[in-house]
Amino acid sequence: MHKSMPEEGSVASDIMQRLEVFKQHDPDYKDGRLWSLVYYLNEEHSEFLKDAYHCYASENGLNPGAFKSLKRLESEIISATAELLHGTDDVCGVVTSGGTESCLMAVKTYRDRARDLRKIRRPEMIMPATAHVAWFKASEYFDVRVRLVPLKDDFTPDLQKLERLINRNTIMMVGAAPEYPHGMIDPISAMGKIGQDRNIPLHVDACVGGFILPFMEMNGESLPPWDYRVPGVTSISADIHKYGFAAKGASTITYRSLDYLRYQMFVYEDWPGGVFASSALLGTRPGGGYSAAWAALQLFGKEGYRDLAADTLEAVTRLKAGVNAINGLQVMGNPQGPLFSYRSLDPDLNIYAVGDQMDARGWQVNRNQGPPGLHAMVTAQHLPVVDHYLADLAESVAVVRADPSLAQQGGAATYGMMAHVPLRGMVKKKILDMYSEQYRAGGAELDIEGASSEGVAGGKLGLLDRLVQWYVARQARKA
Ligand SMILES: Cc1ncc(COP(=O)(O)O)c(C=O)c1O
Repeated sequence: MHKSMPEEGSVASDIMQRLEVFKQHDPDYKDGRLWSLVYYLNEEHSEFLKDAYHCYASENGLNPGAFKSLKRLESEIISATAELLHGTDDVCGVVTSGGTESCLMAVKTYRDRARDLRKIRRPEMIMPATAHVAWFKASEYFDVRVRLVPLKDDFTPDLQKLERLINRNTIMMVGAAPEYPHGMIDPISAMGKIGQDRNIPLHVDACVGGFILPFMEMNGESLPPWDYRVPGVTSISADIHKYGFAAKGASTITYRSLDYLRYQMFVYEDWPGGVFASSALLGTRPGGGYSAAWAALQLFGKEGYRDLAADTLEAVTRLKAGVNAINGLQVMGNPQGPLFSYRSLDPDLNIYAVGDQMDARGWQVNRNQGPPGLHAMVTAQHLPVVDHYLADLAESVAVVRADPSLAQQGGAATYGMMAHVPLRGMVKKKILDMYSEQYRAGGAELDIEGASSEGVAGGKLGLLDRLVQWYVARQARKA
């Protein structure tokens, strides 16, 4: 791999070939063994998205007046989203680069609104402990203090405790549909009622659910209300690059009315480069993200998304039932959307060791913590592999039961150790050091080599393994 820019350029076909070669050791997402990161259907769909992206790959959505076609695509995407979320004609919004940008924008909007209308200088936001990390990131970036609502035993947020966290500085609440860790839809109606009574905006993070829950409902599924039908909901984020099966780089943030959205905007009128206005975080906005997202909506239409939702629901329902049927395993909470996680109820059955066994059988399974568990973000692509997954899971459980020492090895040991590292601040600092190291110029090669020998789960554990090694060495030095 080149560490610096080559003196001379190469032939396009050679470059394309090299790009394909780099991919060889990446996780294979095409056979349904990966359970997050990629939303894939088939090659025909991928090629379609590439073509649609290509069509606007150079166009820039920064200035809505320049490329009018892009503004049209954005407006149509927002109208379609607003309709899906049962918004009135007043609902307005912006296409963003992804769920994180949408979440960041909501926090900036409500912070600035509270500053303007209520002169709040020490803003706070309230959200369940299961809120996505993007919200913690937004809190750090925009200096808004997080007040976390703990979960009850049934994995739902404790609303009595939520009410006690409200104070003068509260600028917003966040609920999710569904939350990422366990796939539960937060009690949005009840939260909306609190929001209305106490005059606090409520954002619904439907980054995952926005483009699947409405279609599950159209198919007859009975789901608790979570969209603009709930009067207290003031904004919703919904990602098209997840269950909308668009290309990466497409989410939406919508608001109940312009009274909110205006606080998302940035305007600087005295810049020597001219008057500048921007509707979201990015400056240059990739036209390809819009065109591929718009194209996906046209391709599927409601009917196509309903079919995908039906397949996903079948897969997730069979998976949850299959997991619960395995002695010692239990699905956590009552997930109603496309994802779920499960834990071990048996103290002698280490769930992370089960995860290691699944990885060894070629699955790429994500880990939960607090409580320990394994996670599955299910799509229509997983329907054909349901039985295979469950058979491997039953076998993995049997292997771990037969050999308890597996809990002291591999990823299980690492995660077990992680849970017992007492100084979380030290952990954070060490991870920060290691993570930054990956971004040193020329450091990417390290990453690629790590991935080629270990795969994606191995790569993740690689970082944690090193952390644990550091911790063990530190303890040894102390002793
Ligand atoms: C509930 C939720 N919100 C926000 C995000 C962030 O989305 P993105 O990864 O597109 O930035 C995710 C990602 O999985 C999510 O699950």
